[in-house]
Amino acid sequence: MPPADQDPDSGNQYDRFADIYGVWTDTAPAARANLPFYSELYVAAEGPVVELGVGDGRIAVEAARRGARLVGVDASARMLERCQARATAAGVADRLTLVQADFRTFELDTPAALIALPYHSLGHLTAIDDKREALARVFEQLRPGGRFVFDDFVVTDRARAHMRQAQLRSIFKAPDGTDRLLWVTSLLDDPDQRITVITWEDMLDDNGRQIDRQYRKLELSWLTPEQAQTLLEEVGFKIDSCWGDFERTTFDPTRANEQIWVVRRPNSGSRAA
Ligand SMILES: C[S@@+](CC[C@H](N)C(=O)[O-])C[C@H]1O[C@@H](n2cnc3c(N)ncnc32)[C@H](O)[C@@H]1O
Repeated sequence: MPPADQDPDSGNQYDRFADIYGVWTDTAPAARANLPFYSELYVAAEGPVVELGVGDGRIAVEAARRGARLVGVDASARMLERCQARATAAGVADRLTLVQADFRTFELDTPAALIALPYHSLGHLTAIDDKREALARVFEQLRPGGRFVFDDFVVTDRARAHMRQAQLRSIFKAPDGTDRLLWVTSLLDDPDQRITVITWEDMLDDNGRQIDRQYRKLELSWLTPEQAQTLLEEVGFKIDSCWGDFERTTFDPTRANEQIWVVRRPNSGSRAA
């Protein structure tokens, strides 16, 4: 398990990542797959919907365009600025309430019917105690019967081999007009279940020569499905489903690309001690 003594500045690391987040997700197969899944959940929910780690509003603004009203929580001021701008451009700013807060301490005005934490974002809390604290917070902020939906990595040999490759993700024009190549790879630390995602951008001149390179990194960790189940039950959740992909295929550890948990705060009773 990840050591319990780490307190990552997981929101701050996104302040340094915000300007390339859109290019990064536009070219990520997992982001393409999770967008319809979560946006449909938000639109269909009856009652207050909250997206934790709302980021640049990639999912939330799409759901708002389709009529949903949401609260978006994120620790990163830069990501929230992008979300606000995206909501305004889409004409749905009045359907989105944005709150700058941490997964572990956020507080809602009204208990939620649905809280979602998409795109492996629980992984940004790299210590197991921090993950437990966030799950307990979610439990407390849900109304009785309310659902919590999140996904986490499934780290198989196939996934390891894919993540370790250096992948050219995009060629794009930066706001200053220069052409840039966006590359990504990941370092995996199996004993500690840690992933360091490293991106780098090559900035090119008009002749295609590299004039500069910028590196960035994101720290993540993963839970095994067994650890996820244990944590969820410790906190008091009842498990409705665990799917292995965004088409809602029942989780099978030999085939799954994702672990997607749909859990519920029971109608009666408080959090497990
Ligand atoms: C992978 S992005 C997901 C953004 C969006 N949900 C999506 O699917 O595109 C993770 C987001 O979680 C936020 N985040 C990371 N750690 C956080 C924390 N401890 N509390 C609140 N937000 C956090 C980051 O700032 C970032 O915007």
